[in-house]
This record gives sequence, structure tokens and C-alpha cells, in this order.
Amino acid sequence: MSNKMHIKLTVNGAEEEFLAEPRELLIYTLRERLGITGPHIGCETSHCGACTVNLNGKTIKSCTMFVAQANGAEVTTIEGMGGPDALHPLQEAFKEHHGLQCGYCTPGMITRAAKLLEENPSPTEEEVRFGMAGNLCRCTGYQNIVKAIMAAAADMSSSKEAAQ
Ligand code: FES
Ligand code: FES
Repeated sequence: MSNKMHIKLTVNGAEEEFLAEPRELLIYTLRERLGITGPHIGCETSHCGACTVNLNGKTIKSCTMFVAQANGAEVTTIEGMGGPDALHPLQEAFKEHHGLQCGYCTPGMITRAAKLLEENPSPTEEEVRFGMAGNLCRCTGYQNIVKAIMAAAADMSSSKEAAQ
């Protein structure tokens, strides 16, 4: 007898329905089942943050969540934030301030940073460092990542003020 479960997810605004083993990890659902390859697989132990996505308004590490736990959730990945024709201000700032080298950590970094700025639109450098502590980068030394997030925060605040 199959113990597959009927799963519904909304990923980057698109509704998805499928049968899956409840123990399937969300990162594999996203990458292998749905072809959403922005979130990366790094440590698979909840340490590196390469697999970071936002789920129902919280940042989570999708390598340590079963798809059954995510059933019914709304998931946002880097693909839902912006694209080549219309970069998200964080994507623009990472590009501008050299916030990446190999880029492996970058989708998780930007996804986490977006949530951080949603919760705290004008963070101090210390708050950025604290808020990003769950995302590791083996290349950059973090300086330019912090600089990019601070720049995006300033850019997003001034765009908001201009729109008011
Ligand atoms: Fe999920 Fe490293 S792959 S935290
Ligand atoms: Fe290479 Fe962060 S840019 S791991």
C-alpha cells in the first residue's frame, strides 16, 4: 500500500498539487519535483542556509522540513523575488556591491535578507550580521554581503518615501 500523501503548496504564487512520501524533504520537492533550483543543497543539516526559503512569512531551511510539514503553505524562493528583467533591490545591491563570488550561498542569503528587511527596514550593521547569522558564505568574508544589504535597505526606504 502506498503511503503517499496528497500535498498542496503555493510556490512563488503558483499552486502545486502532487502525491509525495510525507518524509520527502522540502528542498528535494522544490528542486527535483518542481524544478525550482534557486534554493541550493549545502550541508543538509540546517547549518549553512543555502536551502533557505520563506514559508508562511518565516525564513526556514528547506533541507530540514518534510514536505508533509509544509502542506498547505505558501513558499517564496529567490525565483519569486525578481528576475533578469526586473531585479529585486537586494539582487541589484548584491550585484553592485560584489556581495557574491561563487554565488552558491546567494539565493539563500537574498531570500533571508528580504525577510530581515521586511521585519526591520532600517537595520544597523550589527542587526544585519545577527539576522544573517544562519547563512554561511565560504567566499566573501561577509563584508560586501553586509554592505549590499545595508544599501538595499537604504534604497528600499527611499523608494517607499518617494511613493508616499
Ligand atoms: Fe539546508 Fe545547509 S542545506 S542549511
Ligand atoms: Fe561563494 Fe558565498 S559567494 S559561498
